[in-house]
Amino acid sequence: MEEIFPPLENKGDEELIRLAREAYQQAYVPYSNYPVGAAARFSSGKIYRGCNVENASYGLTVCAERTAIFQAAAAGERELSSIAIAVPTEEFPSPCGACRQVMREFAKDCRLMLVNGQGRVKATSLQELLPFSFGPEYLE
Ligand code: THU
Repeated sequence: MEEIFPPLENKGDEELIRLAREAYQQAYVPYSNYPVGAAARFSSGKIYRGCNVENASYGLTVCAERTAIFQAAAAGERELSSIAIAVPTEEFPSPCGACRQVMREFAKDCRLMLVNGQGRVKATSLQELLPFSFGPEYLE
């Protein structure tokens, strides 16, 4: 995992980060008060955004990453290229295990950017966060 101090060289990464930071502003988080935003780029080049959506029956909460990825899948996307995940706190975000596995459904590996409230970025990959993973090709 590598910490990057923006401005980044890659305009595509910058856009993804900006959109993830915008996305957490729509988060519905009356219980945790911990807003998370995600912006996922798929192979078509399109970017899908998501935020966490909580529920009074806590277990039904959906994370920002899954909101974005499921929206993309429902639009016909199948290949995740990169994803930015942003929070307003000083502590960097880290995707939960369930979201890592959902990313794995649409990518054997992909670039991940974790963005804190100061706009600092940690760049990592799905393989780093979910090594020796199980995926759809096991069922072919
Ligand atoms: N959450 C996300 O949306 N993404 C993450 O990467 C970590 C956790 C949400 C779920 C819940 O709404 C809140 O953060 C606290 O767990």
